[in-house]
Amino acid sequence: MGFDQYHEPANELSQETRTFARIIASLKEECEAIGWYEQRISVEQDPDAKKIMQHSQEEEFLHFSMDLEFLLRRNPKWRVAAKNVLFHEGDIIENAEQGEEAEDKLK
Ligand SMILES: [Fe+2]
Repeated sequence: MGFDQYHEPANELSQETRTFARIIASLKEECEAIGWYEQRISVEQDPDAKKIMQHSQEEEFLHFSMDLEFLLRRNPKWRVAAKNVLFHEGDIIENAEQGEEAEDKLK
């Protein structure tokens, strides 16, 4: 991966910000893996191979979720936004707008 997760000089970033950036990079990788498995599963003809890929994708769901939870715990505004959008029925955009209002209240 190298150091391309940083957009500012790494030596100017706090340890906390570097850790945050590393988990963001990990989150992106887990997300990509989920998408790649989705494509592989959709075209795989061998049922045993398909089951292995499905199992692997389920692992990636957990990895992604752990990364996301870590980030949400470190960023209160993001957590508030996510609380308003995730795991709610109804219109996603309306829920997001409520999340935006909740974020503004944290200022
Ligand atoms: Fe993973």
